[in-house]
Amino acid sequence: MTAPPVKIAPSLLSADFVHLARDVAAVEAAGADWLHVDVMDGHFVPNLTIGPPVVKALKQVATIPLDVHIMITEPERYAADYVKAGADVLSCHIETQPGALELTRQAGARAGLAVNPETDIAPVRDMLDRVDMILVMSVHPGFGGQSFMPEVLPKIESLRAWGYQGDIQIDGGISPATVDDAAAAGANVFVAGSAVFGSEDWAATIATLRETAETRLGVSA
Ligand code: DX5
Ligand code: ZN
Repeated sequence: MTAPPVKIAPSLLSADFVHLARDVAAVEAAGADWLHVDVMDGHFVPNLTIGPPVVKALKQVATIPLDVHIMITEPERYAADYVKAGADVLSCHIETQPGALELTRQAGARAGLAVNPETDIAPVRDMLDRVDMILVMSVHPGFGGQSFMPEVLPKIESLRAWGYQGDIQIDGGISPATVDDAAAAGANVFVAGSAVFGSEDWAATIATLRETAETRLGVSA
């Protein structure tokens, strides 16, 4: 199997919200492939972040795809709003309303399906034709800066063993220390918030993540 291309998606949750446009430009210049945008509703997860108006504002300054991760109880209600605001990829959670997948595609974006650490991956096998990406959570969603949970990696191995050749994103605790294990399991899209924005040299960190993953997966850009 040929692995899909590696993508590095810095999470703006760890950016400076006072200077979002500046950080978007800087992280793009540092080599980011996608911008990961974490949407939280204070309901599905115990935190509140951003809504469609901020996604719309980001879209005006971003030159790379917006990868929007909606950790919300009612994705069917809001999916089209996020696509209209500028999401290029929109991932809803399987624990909520997977009907948002079809609404996302109908609205013109790629549909991602996110799976929490404690959620069984088995039901996803019958959903693969409805999705354009699987997002495997490697922390409990809600906050940046948490520790990577290696026990979720067998889910990624299962997806690849089933023959799924599309994008598998891993989100939570990805850093130069954990990216190799995630790639070894078969992930090819890597979200990294605190590891990128908390580092001294964003370009060097992104390059290390990319090179480590590409070496492990045996692919190049
Ligand atoms: C967690 C979010 C993640 C988070 C990643 O709920 O979905 O995208 O921002 O942050 P780090 O990379 O710091 O774990
Ligand atoms: Zn996320």
